[in-house]
Amino acid sequence: MTEPRFRPLLEPADWIGVRLNGEPLEVPRGMSVLAGLLIRADDASSPGWFCAIGQCQRCRVRINGREAVACQTSPAEGDVIETRDSWSG
Ligand code: FES
Repeated sequence: MTEPRFRPLLEPADWIGVRLNGEPLEVPRGMSVLAGLLIRADDASSPGWFCAIGQCQRCRVRINGREAVACQTSPAEGDVIETRDSWSG
């Protein structure tokens, strides 16, 4: 895993466990899926993004098998997140 390109200004108080493209990952509770992945995931496994306000649709992921906009969705403990690069069909 390469160094993440983003860091929170303050260390989050609480972390939750999700699975990202089949791998376990801890992300800050209360942040958007996009923010959590940008902090914790490397470039290769982070979703693409541009606006971070729900308009460009570049951050679409699947969460528990349903498509979602990562910048407008908060993760829950145990969520299974798949980035588009990992979608098989
Ligand atoms: S980054 Fe543009 S919709 Fe999420």
